[in-house]
Amino acid sequence: MTRDRFFKSMATLGLALTYDDVRLRTGPSTVPAHEVALGSRFSRHVPLKRPIISAAMDTVTTSDMAIAMAMSGGLGVIHAALPPADQAREVKRVKFFLNGQVEKPITVRDDDMLQEVQRMRREMGFKFHSFPVVDRRQRLVGLLTKNDFLRCRDHSQTVRSVMTPDVMSAPPDTDLDQAYRIMMKNKQVTVLPLVDDSQHVTGLYLLSDVIRVKHGSSSLHNVDDANRLRVAAAVGTDQEALERVELMHRRLDAVVVDTARGDSRYAFDTLKAIKQKYPDLDVVVGNISEGASARLLAKAGADGIKVGQGPGSICTTRVETGIGCPQVTAVYECAKAVADLDVPVCADGGVSNRGDIPIAIGAGASSVMLGNMLAGTKEAPGAVYMDEAGSMVKDYRGMGSNAAMRDSHTARRRYGGQDGQPVITEGIEGTVPYQGAVDEVMTQYAIALARSLEYCGRASVEEHRQKARFYRITGAGYRESRPHDVATPGRQSLRGPSAA
Ligand code: XMP
Repeated sequence: MTRDRFFKSMATLGLALTYDDVRLRTGPSTVPAHEVALGSRFSRHVPLKRPIISAAMDTVTTSDMAIAMAMSGGLGVIHAALPPADQAREVKRVKFFLNGQVEKPITVRDDDMLQEVQRMRREMGFKFHSFPVVDRRQRLVGLLTKNDFLRCRDHSQTVRSVMTPDVMSAPPDTDLDQAYRIMMKNKQVTVLPLVDDSQHVTGLYLLSDVIRVKHGSSSLHNVDDANRLRVAAAVGTDQEALERVELMHRRLDAVVVDTARGDSRYAFDTLKAIKQKYPDLDVVVGNISEGASARLLAKAGADGIKVGQGPGSICTTRVETGIGCPQVTAVYECAKAVADLDVPVCADGGVSNRGDIPIAIGAGASSVMLGNMLAGTKEAPGAVYMDEAGSMVKDYRGMGSNAAMRDSHTARRRYGGQDGQPVITEGIEGTVPYQGAVDEVMTQYAIALARSLEYCGRASVEEHRQKARFYRITGAGYRESRPHDVATPGRQSLRGPSAA
């Protein structure tokens, strides 16, 4: 039975399905897992090397996570529950991470004494010795390097008397490749300050960093045309959304209009306002769970659509409001509704096993967004600690939880909390097991996905997305799908009360 017929027959019964309700049908396989192509898209113009996105949540994605995700072939969406300037700084950190560029380098004044510079280095714990030297008006006049320190025994001299004048510099928008070429051509240049028209220092490249990045780049990195890591950021649907986009747009690959009701008038207005002002910036809008809403958003200009209302591991939206379509059907209906408009769908929330990822893609998603399954990694914000049972854990909370809404007005507004108005909580606070580094976790997810596609006889994520076929399983089928009838130390058999 084709996928369309399968979902149609379910719809005839009024049935909507989620991950544990279905399994993928296998097929003759010609492509081994290690040759399966895992590339996909988050939005119209934002490619992925692996179809996995980290959630825009304050216990999941800040710059550390976004850097690790992009370096592992995915993408991170920097959450919006922090002030606009801080969010813009996080985005910038990701964009420049592979760039090898030192932002806002520490400068010294030409009339400083060398001993003052040494004291400052000690007090601030700086390990480096290279400083751009500026005059009273902050204009670049020279460079102080490690060799200048080594050559000079008398540290009561001024910086001006020992520095290297006539420094080669470059404009502020110099990218890594340009810096590399300049440094390769001019052997004496090991430090390249970037200066604006007023000769003020805006950045700096160090030869050692540039070489590390150039030679260490992996083909797995999800990078833009200028070899910088890709990054997305979330905004709400209020006035502040445009202010945030204004601060971040030059460094963003995509902006995500992130709200619990992606088909609200506010979401449409925000989408249109962003597209009007920044037509070249991909805008992903969510969340919705009905095909009709997906189509309206796509027609209104969305470059990607995020699907999922209430499936998340920390969500209480469905409990509180009784709404929501189980996730596999929601993804299928939304993807089908926009199939002719070339708008990728991201399945957001409810992925709790690795095997759910190929199921989401098989239902029509081009990517999955993970909260729970990344919140326990080293790169997620927050500390690892030991819980009462002696397990290593990290905190994970819904953005509609009491604590998240108390800490952030953006979180409160996501769940309908207009200024001063009361809200209900739509999320909970909890912990997840510590998982280690993102790159290892992402490798596991990618291997499981490739293996699934091999079982299904597909050569690529895109082929699977278009041709997957499903079984609806019963409770007995679900039990059979998991380990059963085996006692493992410290863990009960998964079947039946007799094992309890
Ligand atoms: P998982 O299942 O990966 O889900 O933990 C993450 C997604 O859940 C959404 N989210 C929420 N939904 N109440 C909700 O109803 C909340 O408090 C909440 N916080 C996050 C969000 O879409 C995220 O990507």
